[in-house]
Amino acid sequence: MIPLLDLAQRQHGWLPISAMHRVADILGLPNMRVYEVATFYTMFMRKPTGTYHVQVCTTTPCWLRGSDEIMTACKEKLGIGAGETTKDGKFTISEVECLGACVNAPMIAVNDDYYEDLTAKDTIEILSDLKQGKVPRPGPRNGRFASEPTGGLTSLTEEPKGPGIRNANRLLVIQLHIVR
Ligand code: FES
Repeated sequence: MIPLLDLAQRQHGWLPISAMHRVADILGLPNMRVYEVATFYTMFMRKPTGTYHVQVCTTTPCWLRGSDEIMTACKEKLGIGAGETTKDGKFTISEVECLGACVNAPMIAVNDDYYEDLTAKDTIEILSDLKQGKVPRPGPRNGRFASEPTGGLTSLTEEPKGPGIRNANRLLVIQLHIVR
């Protein structure tokens, strides 16, 4: 059901009740079963949503890292509040709970893309690019790759010592002798 609801939402830009009914028909289920799922998961949008759905995470790790400034930047740049859509139908802002990228906090999601390690300036740049029809590069904005440490490696920086690799190698050598 969830993949079908997701497909319907991608086709419409949101999930109208008629789409829920169609999914219920396809699956041979009562409508209520589909309502239960569509209303439980917050990724299903039950009212028209902008072309760009800007989800600002404000849960504790993002909040500690400055999500208040990120939210303010979104509101000021787009001229709308959380839960609102711009008049041209391009942008909707949602305040959301943890999106699972806390190690790169603060972050926002725009549709399927995550923008991470943000400052207010980065956020404004991302929204400006989207307004101009450009697709900003997703991922961290502070130069690091994925969620690697910002100051270089801090662990696993030398060849592993036993018991492990070396003993395993010795065991392999012994086994090879036995085979011969
Ligand atoms: S708290 Fe923001 S991604 Fe987890």
